[in-house]
Amino acid sequence: MIGKKEGRIFSGVQPTGNLHLGNYLGAIRNFVRLQSQYECIYCVVELHAITQWQPPTEVSSNTREVAAAYLAAGIEVKQHIIFNQSQVTAHAELAWIFNCVARLGWLDRMTQFKEKAGKDKERASAGLYAYPTLMAAEILVYKGTHVPVGEDQKQHLELARDIAAKFNHDYKRDVFPLVEPLILGAATRVMSLKDGSSKMSKSDSADLSRINMTDDVDTIARKIKKAKTDSDVLPSEPGGLKGRPEAANLVGIYMALAETDINSVLGQFGGQGFGVFKPALAELAIETLAPIQTEFRRLMNDPGSLDSLLGSGADRARALADPIIAEVKEIVGFIRP
Ligand code: AMP
Ligand code: TRP
Repeated sequence: MIGKKEGRIFSGVQPTGNLHLGNYLGAIRNFVRLQSQYECIYCVVELHAITQWQPPTEVSSNTREVAAAYLAAGIEVKQHIIFNQSQVTAHAELAWIFNCVARLGWLDRMTQFKEKAGKDKERASAGLYAYPTLMAAEILVYKGTHVPVGEDQKQHLELARDIAAKFNHDYKRDVFPLVEPLILGAATRVMSLKDGSSKMSKSDSADLSRINMTDDVDTIARKIKKAKTDSDVLPSEPGGLKGRPEAANLVGIYMALAETDINSVLGQFGGQGFGVFKPALAELAIETLAPIQTEFRRLMNDPGSLDSLLGSGADRARALADPIIAEVKEIVGFIRP
């Protein structure tokens, strides 16, 4: 692998619908970039998606949606692997073993569980609680070393490191690598367009809070126009965005889309109001997303091809995971004839 870095990338996106600009800028765009440097495995993680109930038809259509987004964004399936998780049973097998390695105290600290379970955590599924052990398992069943994610996944990756270290320690074998999070780019935490203090999220009931990968050009323009702001002009120095979360978020999105730095955005728009900035941002968002969306729609019109592509990706993933899960089972003491 000349010119490539040592290591194997693994990452995943949940098929829970409403794939949005945060998923693209925080994760999928980085997945595409990393493929020139590493061997990459990108998974559609539907075992995670059912930790909160979803109608079966939506699980399958959302799975195709994430696969189509990976492809439309530019992931090369000849060199790299795209598949849906449930086709490779080794993920769930290793997850069980990791459930026996991870400590309750570790899982109790996971902030995403607290957010997702809400006030009534007695009613959350056991799967939602154990989800970070499954996430560790799917990375480590390939001995993945680097994991590109948005900022919100950092804590789960620290847990994956703790699980790997404890497994290696308990069984006195150097089996699993300590994964490195790759939190890259200017938009590792894109905020809601309606509230600069909460993350842009698939599950926000307000559609105006996010730009979906499926939004058409007019919808993108309308959502940016309606995005919450304050009545000030944009500052010419980054310090002037302090205490202005909505303005900071829109500037951050512009920066990430234009692949530039904050000083150049504020150099261009400092002193101007949102009446000037928002149309420029809308134009940039449309210019970046439109070609991906066209390809995305084309792929979604042919579900049969997507399914067979996921099937052959899963075959290749299984070939990598099978010897690793066999090694782990032997280490743990499970008999195989
Ligand atoms: P999820 O939507 O939870 O399946 O997330 C898929 C990927 O997108 C993960 O790497 C997340 O960290 C990333 N992500 C999700 N929401 C955002 C956001 N608002 N800003 C940046 N990255 C995000
Ligand atoms: N938990 C991640 C999220 O909610 C998605 C995910 C599942 C993932 N498994 C993963 C990310 C493995 C990276 C590696 O965004």
